[in-house]
Amino acid sequence: MTSVDADKQAERGAKSSTGHERDDLPPVIAIDGPSGAGKGAVAQVLANQLNYHLLDSGAVYRAAAIICKKAGADISSESSVLAALDAFQATFHPQGTDGVVVMIGEENITNELRTQQTAEIASQIAVMQPIRAALLDEQRSFRQPPGLIADGRDMGTVVFPDAQLKVFLTASVEERANRRAKQLKEKGIETTMAVLMAEIDARDKRDSTREHAPLKAAHDALFIDSSSLSIEEVVDLIVNAASSE
Ligand code: C5P
Repeated sequence: MTSVDADKQAERGAKSSTGHERDDLPPVIAIDGPSGAGKGAVAQVLANQLNYHLLDSGAVYRAAAIICKKAGADISSESSVLAALDAFQATFHPQGTDGVVVMIGEENITNELRTQQTAEIASQIAVMQPIRAALLDEQRSFRQPPGLIADGRDMGTVVFPDAQLKVFLTASVEERANRRAKQLKEKGIETTMAVLMAEIDARDKRDSTREHAPLKAAHDALFIDSSSLSIEEVVDLIVNAASSE
């Protein structure tokens, strides 16, 4: 089956004959967009405010990247990556407002999840369709009552095509690099804007030009540019849009 077929089938399976969200499934608010657009912070505030579950799908890809590293997988080989994902499993333990603790067996990998190297490997294995397919069920298992806030690149287009509300959240590359620089500085890591902008640009290109589930706005997504908006302002826009659905 091609990825397009798989995506269409996913969409058919998730929708009722009327094309609307299936009544028996908890509602989902899908937030997609490039790295550094503020998806994570907005999703966390929304999940707390609505008392919904939270899926940081980037963490699922990052955990898969760490599994590959641990297993010594060849990340240019689909079969090698799949074998690593078969051998190890990451578990996700939500900590309320403090995000999520991620474990592989007894090992806490939460800090390793956030490194630049992990992001790079995640983005490289994320281009492979069999890897994306292997991670689908895990992501969909977060859809529990009373509802889910899901953030990522393909939440509204592939993973939850029947989401109650789809948001595409973006910001200028300069603003995203600025935000990243601030985060890194808080961790005592110095870098230059030029390096950060080049890294963000390269990852954006890979994510949005890949063949399978590329980063793109769903046709029915609400587009929000967060360059000059606070987290609270973005949250308000989304809550208002969700309540008028
Ligand atoms: O969002 P985050 O930066 O944690 O994601 C790391 C990488 O995982 C992204 O650059 C992207 O390549 C991949 N990813 C993806 N689909 C998602 C979430 C993340 O391909 N839904």
